[in-house]
Amino acid sequence: MAYIEMIESYKRYKTGDTVITANDGITFGIEKGELVVILGASGAGKSTVLNILGGMDTSDEGQIIIDGNDIANYNAKQLTTYRRNEVGFVFQFYNLVANLTAKENVELASEIVANAMNPEEVLKDVGLGNRMDNFPAQLSGGEQQRVAIARAVAKNPKLLLCDEPTGALDYRTGKQVLKILQDKSRLDGTTVVIVTHNAAIAPIADRLIEIHDGKVKSMKVNPQPLDIEDLEW
Ligand SMILES: Nc1ncnc2c1ncn2[C@@H]1O[C@H](COP(=O)(O)OP(=O)(O)OP(=O)(O)O)[C@@H](O)[C@H]1O
Ligand SMILES: [Mg+2]
Repeated sequence: MAYIEMIESYKRYKTGDTVITANDGITFGIEKGELVVILGASGAGKSTVLNILGGMDTSDEGQIIIDGNDIANYNAKQLTTYRRNEVGFVFQFYNLVANLTAKENVELASEIVANAMNPEEVLKDVGLGNRMDNFPAQLSGGEQQRVAIARAVAKNPKLLLCDEPTGALDYRTGKQVLKILQDKSRLDGTTVVIVTHNAAIAPIADRLIEIHDGKVKSMKVNPQPLDIEDLEW
């Protein structure tokens, strides 16, 4: 069995009389340590998949197997433990706490787990060793996203889930961020899932999952993923 197995997963949203099926029987598997890109147009259901994988949302039907456990059967307390100990989440718009410094933002995450990494070391790893005492408003978008990645990585998660992590960044800073994520997968064996609507990112993936209208349209394993240095878009 693969490290992650999403099997026939459904998510429906009801607003008044209308039902939107955001995930319509999603099935895929992901191996440990892979860098996965989930590609799809706006509204395809990508964030819904990622939020369910991360235990931030629950499916209506189906199995969500993570490392042999079906988290679809977890109660709220088990989901909290799962989110806390196993998942790092990176959001499109960083979601940093504005009145805490870069270092304090990372400490927020490292303080809630047992085997956390040193916040200063992680900030150095993402190239922000000299910006630790800056507040988010004093940092560029790319720097803020690197703080957000440091915050997710500091928990030493087995699974790093990233929702449009380069969506708000320009080409060069976007590549810096992707490089950090590819290194986490290649050097540390972290399983990294990146959700995006930007098809240009697809060649860096070990595995590409395309989503259309709440369904998996295709899944391809890429034996020769592109190094970020060689990526152009
Ligand atoms: N809480 C909600 N209530 C109602 N409908 C929702 C909710 N969350 C998502 N949806 C709907 O489910 C569908 C899939 O949404 P989702 O956010 O997963 O798409 P996405 O692929 O991430 O899109 P984008 O690229 O724009 O972020 C959309 O039609 C969206 O409007
Ligand atoms: Mg989304």
